[in-house]
Amino acid sequence: MSQVPVAVVTGGSRGIGKAVADECMSLGYRVVLVARNPRNLEQACRELCEKHSPDAAHQPDMAAVDVADVAAVKATAEDIIRRQGRVDLLFNAAGISIPGTFDQDAETFTRLFAVNLRAPFLFMQAFLPQMTAQGGGRIVNVASRNGKVAVAGLGGYSASKYGLVGLSESAYREYAARGISITTICPGWVNTEMAANEGPSLRPEEMVQPEDVARTLRWLLSMSPSVRVMEVMLECAGDVERRASVELAKLYALKRRHEKEFEELDVRAGL
Ligand SMILES: NC(=O)c1ccc[n+]([C@@H]2O[C@H](COP(=O)([O-])OP(=O)(O)OC[C@H]3O[C@@H](n4cnc5c(N)ncnc54)[C@H](OP(=O)(O)O)[C@@H]3O)[C@@H](O)[C@H]2O)c1
Repeated sequence: MSQVPVAVVTGGSRGIGKAVADECMSLGYRVVLVARNPRNLEQACRELCEKHSPDAAHQPDMAAVDVADVAAVKATAEDIIRRQGRVDLLFNAAGISIPGTFDQDAETFTRLFAVNLRAPFLFMQAFLPQMTAQGGGRIVNVASRNGKVAVAGLGGYSASKYGLVGLSESAYREYAARGISITTICPGWVNTEMAANEGPSLRPEEMVQPEDVARTLRWLLSMSPSVRVMEVMLECAGDVERRASVELAKLYALKRRHEKEFEELDVRAGL
């Protein structure tokens, strides 16, 4: 078996996955990028090669596959194990966001689940036995802040991400004692194409940057083997501050109402 560690990064052709693949190459991994569009994958591989000038053992590899296709994901995972001989890190970033809840048709709702939840399940199912045989490994799943706190009008996406948080937490507990570390990252807005397409409430520079997620992976990998991190939430300061000021305003309104009620009681009691 090769000694070069292998990182499989789904959604590795752009956004968070691409930043993570870049970080993995800096850390000495051979990366396998997974996404649908082969041209974007080739472009990402070219850019990584230009930046890192890898030797033959560290050349990035790619697999063009729709992760919503069960048979194709299973075949891809088998092929990766056959070609690479090992898998040390699985970073599940491939995902889609489609707004809506009850205005969504059943196909859209199902597609969100197929890409955001079933695909990470299938890759984990395929690679966990390999990691176990190797004596350890690491899995990182990108859920979302919407997988912890649901907002109105994003029910399908939120449900798929809540599902991923639950799947990851269960797997985290099941595999913690087997040397396999499983972490869920739950970011707020991240400055990628996905966020830009949604008409976000924050400017790009106010969001979490894809490199922040990559740095979170570096931080996770820097931990002692005795440490397990189940979940990391990365919020945008602007969002946190806005929510905090709304909550403060509500508290002050409540205080003013009660003060008025007490004053009226005092008047009635003749105090
Ligand atoms: N951006 C945010 O604000 C934000 C916030 C919280 C969580 N997240 C989560 O973070 C993850 C990455 O998001 P991002 O912002 O980096 O998105 P992005 O820029 O849109 O990139 C998505 C990546 O996933 C791949 N992908 C999408 N559907 C796929 C499919 N069916 N099969 C295979 N690959 C597929 C895309 O490549 P192809 O299109 O070529 O397939 C691309 O490489 C997602 O799971 C997302 O839900 C994002």
